[in-house]
Amino acid sequence: MIRTVYVNGDYVLETEATVSIFDRGFLFADAVYEVTAVLNGMLIDNPGHIARLERSCKELGIKMPLSAEQLTAVQKELIKKNNLQEGGVYLQLTRGNEGDRDFSYSDDIEPTLVLFTQQRALINSKPAQQGIKVLSMDDIRWRRRDIKTTSLLPACLSKHIAHQAGCDDVWLIEDGFVTEGGSSNAYIVTQENKIITRPLSNDILHGITRASLLKLAKDFDIEIEERSFTIEEAYAAKEAFVSSATTFIWPVISIDGNVIGDGIAGPLASKLRDIYVKTAIELAE
Ligand code: PDD
Repeated sequence: MIRTVYVNGDYVLETEATVSIFDRGFLFADAVYEVTAVLNGMLIDNPGHIARLERSCKELGIKMPLSAEQLTAVQKELIKKNNLQEGGVYLQLTRGNEGDRDFSYSDDIEPTLVLFTQQRALINSKPAQQGIKVLSMDDIRWRRRDIKTTSLLPACLSKHIAHQAGCDDVWLIEDGFVTEGGSSNAYIVTQENKIITRPLSNDILHGITRASLLKLAKDFDIEIEERSFTIEEAYAAKEAFVSSATTFIWPVISIDGNVIGDGIAGPLASKLRDIYVKTAIELAE
């Protein structure tokens, strides 16, 4: 199906959408992005995604061309135009284009805004039911992982290595501690059924799904501790899982070839996933 996409104020067919070769997003990955999940044709956790976009823009000095309300209206219009029921809306905002390649930029540069929809099975997905295998790797990213930039080459390369090794994704390690997944936040469950996840800092992306999960865990009396954990602690965990807008929660069933728990989707991860999906649908807009 040829999608209708959004480029700088226009809804156009994906085959006719263009962005300049001088766009700084293309030349320097000078851009930020957000992925919002869609279920039943509605946006999931979207206010959090828009708020994080605003924060990313502020940190980098990229201008927001539309208000939160206007951005949401574009997201909804794209869902409608493409008749999207399940998947996501991708939003990318670049610093813009000043007609040449130059490291420096002027303060009044106009940003480039692109959005498109992606169809994806979020509810009945094999990884959600069967879990994923992950490979750990050195975290070679820059020091501002809290900003959601499109500088994703380390993630692409490490995921490719993981796939070549027969795994589904990576867990990244820095100074012996797990930072996060290749494109997700990482969690383990102790033998005492306590969920452990790394606290927020510039070392990890402040996941919107993570924020919702933490709130839900509190509401449902599931114990969560925010602290760093080592990969060795993860090998010995009762369960492990990841969260993101493209996975919600996916159980992790093996790390570096070490089987986690019983090697099947863990009960706590599955319970949290069920609670998350149910609540997300209720709050969807
Ligand atoms: N990635 N950590 C990293 C490095 C991520 O790239 C993502 C999301 C997350 C989870 O964030 P959230 O719950 O807000 O989706 C954590 C998106 C889905 C992507 O790049 O496609």
